[in-house]
Amino acid sequence: MSTGGESVKEFLSSVLPVPGNSRVEDERFQRPLVTLTFAQSLDGKIAGKGGKQLILSGRESMLMTHWMRTKHDAILVGIGTALNDDPQLNSRHIPEHERPSHLPRPVILDASLRLRSDCKLLRNYQEGKGRRPWVICDANLNPDYAGRKSTLENAGARVIGVKRTSLGFIVIPDLLKALYTYGVKTLMVEGGAAVIGSFLAESARAKPSTIIDTLIITIAPTLVGDEGVGYGKGLSTEQTHSLKHIRTKIMGQDVVIVGAL
Ligand SMILES: NC(=O)c1ccc[n+]([C@@H]2O[C@H](COP(=O)([O-])OP(=O)(O)OC[C@H]3O[C@@H](n4cnc5c(N)ncnc54)[C@H](OP(=O)(O)O)[C@@H]3O)[C@@H](O)[C@H]2O)c1
Repeated sequence: MSTGGESVKEFLSSVLPVPGNSRVEDERFQRPLVTLTFAQSLDGKIAGKGGKQLILSGRESMLMTHWMRTKHDAILVGIGTALNDDPQLNSRHIPEHERPSHLPRPVILDASLRLRSDCKLLRNYQEGKGRRPWVICDANLNPDYAGRKSTLENAGARVIGVKRTSLGFIVIPDLLKALYTYGVKTLMVEGGAAVIGSFLAESARAKPSTIIDTLIITIAPTLVGDEGVGYGKGLSTEQTHSLKHIRTKIMGQDVVIVGAL
């Protein structure tokens, strides 16, 4: 599918950084190239009341997201999204004859191992339709959760322990270092609200190094209202000034804005 003469693939090649970037490959910053991407309404919401999943992206931008998935080694979501949306994180919207064989690895941030063993990500893996999900939990896992760990492992998940902050969240720089060590060179972060907020806040804190390389936000021509789910909690106003605009593109009825942090 092309948008204004430029194919979605051409657009993505023009905005996504390529592995081999010397700054990131620098020993001090060894981590994957990170793309943070999500769809929001005009009033900045990513989900409806009570977290109800909304299909905000139109056909064209949804297809772009699925192509983007094929260009990353792994896709990360938080456990809130995994439980609420039961996503598949694959590229099924790309017509089969065009679909690259590469399937990104699903990664779930799940400190206390709340992931359901019958979720679609694990079922797809069991049926040979998806990569083995990696579940990132607290490195100091509460011994009471040992049963959850073996249930998930028996269902096919690889459980990886990473340090938690005092607030209970997985430490993002440590997470990125661990993923890099396990071979993830490009990571697409898809949400949800808490994960987007954490990556944005951490990226602001981490200056002069960065955490996010590319931010790709789809803005849909719709309003969700006050009770919808927003993002950016924990991000102070001082932390929001350094977004460098890269491109803006109309995709169907949506606007896609690309920036760098
Ligand atoms: N529009 C879009 O593009 C889009 C995309 C994805 C999701 N969504 C929506 O987002 C909503 C879910 O958002 P959410 O905020 O409830 O859940 P979330 O961001 O998917 O997951 C948050 C949970 O992940 C775990 N976590 C571990 N380390 C973390 C860290 N460093 N930072 C943040 N979280 C960490 C925490 O749970 P533990 O402490 O238990 O580990 C935390 O509560 C759903 O309504 C979904 O539909 C929208």
